[in-house]
Amino acid sequence: MMHLTFVLMFGSLLCLGTKSSNSFEWKQIMSEIRSSFQESLNMINNALNQTARSRSRSPSSPEQMFMISRQAASESQDLFKAAEIFQTTLQVLKDKANRRQKRSLHVSDLLSVEEVERIADLSGCPRSVHPSTCIGEDKYRSLSGVCNNRQNPLWGSANSGLLRWLPAEYEDNEIQPKGWNIDRQYNGFKLPLVRDVSEKLMHSSNVPVLEDNLYSQMLVDWGQYIDHDISFTPQSSSQMAFTDGLNCLHTCRNANPCFPIQISRTDKLSGSKGCLPFFRSSPACLADLQPNLQNTTQRQQINSITSFIDASTVYGHSEQLEKTLRNLSSPEGLLAVNREHTDNGRLYLPSVTSGPSACFQKPGSAANERVDCFVAGDSRVNEILSLSALHTLWMREHNRVAKHLRRLNPHWRSEVIYQETRKIVGALHQIITMRDYIPKIIGQESFDNHLGPYKGYDVVLNPSVSNVFATAAFRFGHATISPVLRRLNESFQEHERFSSLNLHQTFFSPWRLVKEGGLDPVLRGLLGRPAALQNQDHLMTEELTERLVVLNIPESLDLASLNLQRGRDHGLPGYNDWRIFCRYTRVETTSDLTEAIGNAVLAEKIMEVYGHPNNIDVWLGGLMERPLPGARTGPLFACLIGKQMKMLREGDRFWWENPGIFTQQQRHELETHSLSRVICDNSGVMEVPLDSFRVGTYPEDFHFCTDIPSLNLEAWREKPDNCTV
Ligand code: HEM
Ligand SMILES: *[C@@H]1O[C@H](CO)[C@@H](O)[C@H](O)[C@H]1NC(C)=O
Ligand SMILES: *[C@@H]1O[C@H](CO)[C@@H](O)[C@H](O)[C@H]1NC(C)=O
Ligand SMILES: *[C@@H]1O[C@H](CO)[C@@H](O)[C@H](O)[C@H]1NC(C)=O
Ligand SMILES: *[C@@H]1O[C@H](CO)[C@@H](O)[C@H](O)[C@H]1NC(C)=O
Repeated sequence: MMHLTFVLMFGSLLCLGTKSSNSFEWKQIMSEIRSSFQESLNMINNALNQTARSRSRSPSSPEQMFMISRQAASESQDLFKAAEIFQTTLQVLKDKANRRQKRSLHVSDLLSVEEVERIADLSGCPRSVHPSTCIGEDKYRSLSGVCNNRQNPLWGSANSGLLRWLPAEYEDNEIQPKGWNIDRQYNGFKLPLVRDVSEKLMHSSNVPVLEDNLYSQMLVDWGQYIDHDISFTPQSSSQMAFTDGLNCLHTCRNANPCFPIQISRTDKLSGSKGCLPFFRSSPACLADLQPNLQNTTQRQQINSITSFIDASTVYGHSEQLEKTLRNLSSPEGLLAVNREHTDNGRLYLPSVTSGPSACFQKPGSAANERVDCFVAGDSRVNEILSLSALHTLWMREHNRVAKHLRRLNPHWRSEVIYQETRKIVGALHQIITMRDYIPKIIGQESFDNHLGPYKGYDVVLNPSVSNVFATAAFRFGHATISPVLRRLNESFQEHERFSSLNLHQTFFSPWRLVKEGGLDPVLRGLLGRPAALQNQDHLMTEELTERLVVLNIPESLDLASLNLQRGRDHGLPGYNDWRIFCRYTRVETTSDLTEAIGNAVLAEKIMEVYGHPNNIDVWLGGLMERPLPGARTGPLFACLIGKQMKMLREGDRFWWENPGIFTQQQRHELETHSLSRVICDNSGVMEVPLDSFRVGTYPEDFHFCTDIPSLNLEAWREKPDNCTV
């Protein structure tokens, strides 16, 4: 079937004559599609080729390191390339038609569903997975998350699209981010530049960091760690613009995938260029075909890891990755460990094997003293030191549990030990997150409203992470990042030898674990010091507009600007639309906004910056809301996070409480375990609080590890004679 408009656009204008038969037209259409595809393929190959060439000079600034660590893993490169080719082909076809017609058309005006599908095929986009692939019993969850839901095998799986809870809003309805066309007006106002929003509303210069009176720094770091179990939105792997070969690192023009952040030339971050580099997130290949073609061809983004809380941070999300993480020669089902360095006899994550890695080295250290980047289930493991510490802790926990299971069940094969341990470690991630972490973030009341007690697996719930969760709501944590990383000694005082560090000194610096005292001082810092608090009430009035904790890390990156630009890149609807989605009222006036955020001065300032309340970016609006009682987020983020957690829990067939996953006795044992216990079992820290997320004073609120309850693995003992494995 061909599309009539397409024939009109191309057929007539290509002067194909009047006697066109159907099959003749079809041939013309296909040849037009093929040539546009070929054009796109060349553009993208060139861009990737040039990128590879310019990368050969290794990156050095933290800014570039952050970008590179957020590109897709090599095993998914083909998929991302296919998606870029698919999107670019659609654009090339559209541009041709628009030039010929001298008017503005949408892809959906031009092409039929079949034609779009054909383009996806040509581009190398994978066909969707049929439920018939999910055959047989599966005792353990798959690495990629495929077939967790047997009717919709791709739900929650790695490399599937971020889910839209509300349709995207692009400037051309299809692909252009908000703010792409600088003069475009929304409700009579241009969108403010993200850097202006960041400077005017979020920048804190000399405001002292407030301390959370209840929770420890561990609460913040667990947030980042668990986010890295849930979502990873890869950025374009091309550093060059597709159409004209501009280098995204240098250009201040918008040209896919470059979407630079405009800044003033006097800005201290600018280096006089007038913009900061920003790479658009990779597009998704054709998602499920929908009857409405316009919705099908809208640009979507990808979650390149599994949405499920499944310890993908430990085990990865693909078989290729798993191979590099496992110790396949061990009969005990162990994970691979670092063979060069140990932490007082305790193990480190393995180092990357491909050549010298990009991680920073101790100044003045010799070539043979290198500490290369760690590898773990998630590629962002080296971003900051505390994150690397948490990854390391769980690798150690796996190996500890595996060895123990092996002693209990000497008849188990290595594979069985590995999978049973993976299942336990995954369950512990779920328990610590849902029982200990989430209620503290959204408050017990929101937890009860949005989640309540577990009622079993719900096959119709789609557990895939939503775009607004990954791009806005769960980035609430960026406002509570502490500018210092504390390192403490055995009595939870400033460490004599390894002083506390500025955050940026901990970026991509695994050497600071290996050469500076290992995990223990860092873990003690996470347990023994309060989280930074995002709190408006305790500041002097004149400082009210500068109440958020540091989001720009001097000379390296402005995380606030990145978050805002990312939201626009993804076409996220505004703050007000999400309020309606969560059944709150729309904010119409400054006094409505004052009500929502509990701060008149700030409300006025926000209105001044945005002009119209409907223009407020969702991340900014949500972050500014007055926190709910007993929560660390306002009502909007509590709603969005609560809903997402519900999907991740009820939509997971392997959820630890789902009957049949564990025995009742095993469930009971798992519940006695805690993050504090994991720290006790896998580090030199000997005193911990009962709940790692609660801050206390040393020594009153700390307990000896001997008093911290632990899961008893006896519940996993199996008699060899009645074993089924
Ligand atoms: C020192 C601490 C942290 C640093 C340096 C950091 C840095 C970053 C960076 C550079 C991005 C990508 C920004 C972009 O280009 O869009 C990002 C994304 C993100 N961050 Fe953080 N972050 C930190 C802590 C946290 C915390 C505490 C949380 C949550 C509690 C969090 C949640 C997220 C989420 C949900 C994303 C999006 C993930 C995705 O889907 O790709 N981060 N972070
Ligand atoms: C990419 O570059 C390599 C060598 O630099 C060349 O052999 C190859 O043909 C190029 N590929 C494309 C698609 O341009
Ligand atoms: C397509 O998107 C529109 C909004 O752009 C939405 O109202 C509609 O429900 C969507 N249609 C389908 C079939 O998803
Ligand atoms: C694999 O495990 C064996 C013991 O079973 C150990 O000797 C070896 O060092 C381990 N290799 C890696 C890479 O962890
Ligand atoms: C920890 O450091 C403090 C000083 O910062 C010192 O007074 C204390 O004795 C140290 N504790 C231990 C166990 O070394």
